[in-house]
Formats: sequence, C-alpha cells, structure tokens
Amino acid sequence: MRVKDPKIVRALPELGVELKPGTSLRDLTSLGIGGTTDLLRITKHDAIPELLNFLDAEAVPYRFLGGGSNLLVGDGELPWLVLQLVSPDPDIVLEGRFAQVDAAADLGRTVTFCAKNDLGGMEGLIGVPGTVGGALRMNAGAYGMQIGSYVRQVKLYRAARRKLETLEGDKISFEYRHTSFAPDDMMLAVKLELPSKPYREILKGIRICNEKRRASQPLGQKSAGCIFKNPPGASAGRMIDELGLKGLHVGDARVSDRHANFFVNAGQASAKDMLTLIADVRERVQKSFGVILDHEVVVWDA
Ligand code: EPU
Repeated sequence: MRVKDPKIVRALPELGVELKPGTSLRDLTSLGIGGTTDLLRITKHDAIPELLNFLDAEAVPYRFLGGGSNLLVGDGELPWLVLQLVSPDPDIVLEGRFAQVDAAADLGRTVTFCAKNDLGGMEGLIGVPGTVGGALRMNAGAYGMQIGSYVRQVKLYRAARRKLETLEGDKISFEYRHTSFAPDDMMLAVKLELPSKPYREILKGIRICNEKRRASQPLGQKSAGCIFKNPPGASAGRMIDELGLKGLHVGDARVSDRHANFFVNAGQASAKDMLTLIADVRERVQKSFGVILDHEVVVWDA
C-alpha cells in the first residue's frame, strides 16, 4: 500500500513520522520473506493517537511491526502500511531493580545491559531475536522462564480506546506464548523488576543457555523461531522429527535439519512456499498423532 494522499504525506513529519516508501518486509523480518509496502517509522509516542486517528479518518489500513522475528508476511504488494517504533536513546533506563525499557529496544541487548548492571532473571531469553515489545506481546520464554514474570507496568496504545494507557503488571495475564493484550494494542514501553545478581553469575547462566540453543537450534539460518506452539505435555519439534520430516521442503521453505519445529528460508522462499509447508506438516501431525498444532509464528497473510 502506498501513501499517495498529499495531505497525509505533509502531516507525517509534524507527527515525528518518517516515511520509507516501498519497503520490502523481506528486509525487516528474520525469515527474510514478505512483500512490499510503505513503512512509517514513529519517533514520538505521544503523537501516536493523532497519527492513527488521522490514518483511520483517511481509511488507511495499517499493522504494527516489532522486530519481525516471529512473523511470516505475505508476498507481493501488501494491502496495509506498516508502522514501526524507532528506539530512543537511551532505550533502557535503570532505577534500582527496575528497568524502564522502550518497546523498540533489542531484547538481547536489554538482557546483557541489565546483566552488566547486576540485574538477572532473563538469562533464558539470550539469543531470542526481536524487540522487547514483541517479547512482551507474545510473553516470550525459554529455558523455564518467561518475560511476563518480571513485568510491573506497560505503556501501550490501546486501539479500542484510541489512547495511550499505562497498565499495571497485575492487570495483564501472561500465559504460555499468550497475553491478554488485544491484537491491535501497540506496546510502547515496559517497566521490569529484575532480581539482583552478580554479573558473573548471570553471565554463567547466559553462557549455558547460549550453548543449549546453539546445540539444538539453527541459529545462523533465516527462521522465525518455532513455527508451532507445543501442545500441552508434548513437543511439536519431537513429533515432527519422529515423522521423519526434517529436510521436507516446498521450494526454499524447509523443515530445519537441526530442530524440526524451526522452518527455515534456505534461499528465496516465498510466503506461499512457507504456508504450504506449514499446512502440510500440520496435516501430517494431525493424521499421525491426532493433535492439531497451533501456530506460534504470527502470520500476516496479504
Ligand atoms: N526434539 C526432537 N527433535 C527436534 C526438536 C526437539 O526430538 O527436532 C526433542 C528434544 O530432544 C527435546 C524436546 O523435543 O527432548 C523439546 O525440545 P527443545 O528442548 O528444543 O524445546 P522445544 O519444546 O522444541 C521450546 C520453545 C523454544 C525454546 C525452547 C527452550 C516452543 C514452541 N518452543 O522448544 O522457543 O527456545 O523450548 O526453552 O515453546 C520459540 O518460541 O520460537 C522457541 C524457539
């Protein structure tokens, strides 16, 4: 979708928004898949309600993009604009055991920055790509921890009420890869309360998680992490592996040889290739195990 209306083009700089015409989502997602649209880069949180009221009034559809690391975007010309926050400097401010973090901050950098200041708890998230906002929305977790446990406050744009709000942590429910945020809520910032730990001890935990991840996941390849959620009491990766599906491919979309719940873009995979592969694997798992797998990856099909 292209911003053509001169009224909108003129209004954007005043709202602190940078227009990047004809951006390929291939370059903004870890899977390296996705069509083209105009990208609006937002520098001022406070201007968001006005910006979105304006786009709504002009009937311009849009989607919010985080770090693009858990996302499969459709091919071709996309029928919506993409909005993305620009990270302020600094994007992490510490006060005692609290970390005030901008949603656009890189998750891995946040984990290491807090660690260097003797704040731990998030060791398991090292190596999870993406932004803090994306991790928050999905309640990212690994190796027995999840980000939701440390959330004390969230600043967000509530699309349903068209305003910026601050929610206390105990008003948000964090479940396995799921939160009570509405799909069109936009994460803006989060206050985390983290346990005090000496840096050296945190570093040890980080190294262990890094090694486990390196040994079991295809880190150097283009992927969106795990494609399916684990069904209660079972592992999607193990089931797919047991069916001998590692290496199964549709074009360049491929079930990883290393971890069967990671589907990688081994070259020039299209969204169509990836979606066909996902549907095929899902059907085979259902036939053999009687289990219907839910997507963990977020799909923006055009
Ligand atoms: N397994 C296989 N074959 C495979 C993959 C896994 O047999 O190809 C077996 C493993 O040997 C292990 C079991 O399945 O016995 C579980 O595997 P793993 O420890 O890799 O964990 P997982 O359940 O597949 C989950 C998360 C990961 C997270 C890891 C580590 C989900 C869907 N996945 O994977 O998160 O990194 O635990 O905590 O919850 C993600 O969310 O994108 C993600 C990668």
